[in-house]
Amino acid sequence: MRIVVLGGTGQVGRMVVERLERRAQAVVVASPTNGVDARTGRGLDGALEYADAVIDVTNPPDLAGPAALAFFTDTTHRVLEAEQRAGVKHHVVLSIVGANHVGEDGYFAAKRAQEQLVEWGPVPYSILRATQFYDFARVIAGWNTTDDTIRLPAKPVQPVAASDVADVLVEIATRMPLSGAVDMGGPEKLLLPEFVHRVLRTDHDPRYVVEDDEITPVGFNISGESLLPHAPLRLAPTTLESWVHDEGRRRLVGSR
Ligand SMILES: NC(=O)c1ccc[n+]([C@@H]2O[C@H](COP(=O)([O-])OP(=O)(O)OC[C@H]3O[C@@H](n4cnc5c(N)ncnc54)[C@H](OP(=O)(O)O)[C@@H]3O)[C@@H](O)[C@H]2O)c1
Repeated sequence: MRIVVLGGTGQVGRMVVERLERRAQAVVVASPTNGVDARTGRGLDGALEYADAVIDVTNPPDLAGPAALAFFTDTTHRVLEAEQRAGVKHHVVLSIVGANHVGEDGYFAAKRAQEQLVEWGPVPYSILRATQFYDFARVIAGWNTTDDTIRLPAKPVQPVAASDVADVLVEIATRMPLSGAVDMGGPEKLLLPEFVHRVLRTDHDPRYVVEDDEITPVGFNISGESLLPHAPLRLAPTTLESWVHDEGRRRLVGSR
């Protein structure tokens, strides 16, 4: 089986490529770094030649709503057309939990538009919607810091290890298309401030995390339990505690 990983140089893309290679699958890593641009179409037909499946784990350089919407609509149109020309039998896309019910604008709406193009498109598909990756807490912190303090509402989240998501993407891509979507989250529910606090503590980051239910955090339009995964649901095995432990070990090895 020949599998193209669009965005295979990104955070989750690299993990997907590594897992496919371990399984001795034929893998094509497709991203602008490797001469494949899903937005302009440069290199796309060549990358998709003889491909059985495509895993789309691309992300735009600018995550703001309008930029993300333009990126995901342009790239998904181009990729699906190229897949149809090449006779690709399975398009797998990584989306985000909440894309189907969070807000009318912003990044979530851009992911919803991507999902819809895939659902309405000509290629058999599977959609995996993941919750926030553990290390995304650092991005949330960056977006919401004022004067060394991070204010976040006490909303429930169920973050997940990107490595677990990569495992499931590989499993899905090597099976029959789901013709639908599956949600995926980590094994524990946490409150958003606690999640961010625990990751920053691992980094010995001195910023304070403060619970503030009056605040709408930058980057998230959260209402109620909208960031929690729903059925049909895959629960990932890696806890935040074991991820934090591995992060510490990786840092130790890296500093030697
Ligand atoms: N982070 C989270 O918490 C989270 C949670 C749920 C779902 N997701 C989803 O996971 C996906 C991947 O996220 P990530 O954090 O792994 O992304 P990332 O690390 O930012 O990587 C983005 C990838 O997209 C590629 N790319 C950018 N522009 C492209 C283009 N025009 N054509 C082809 N490839 C292009 C990049 O290639 P270059 O390296 O060559 O620039 C890179 O390989 C996203 O779709 C996101 O919605 C993320």
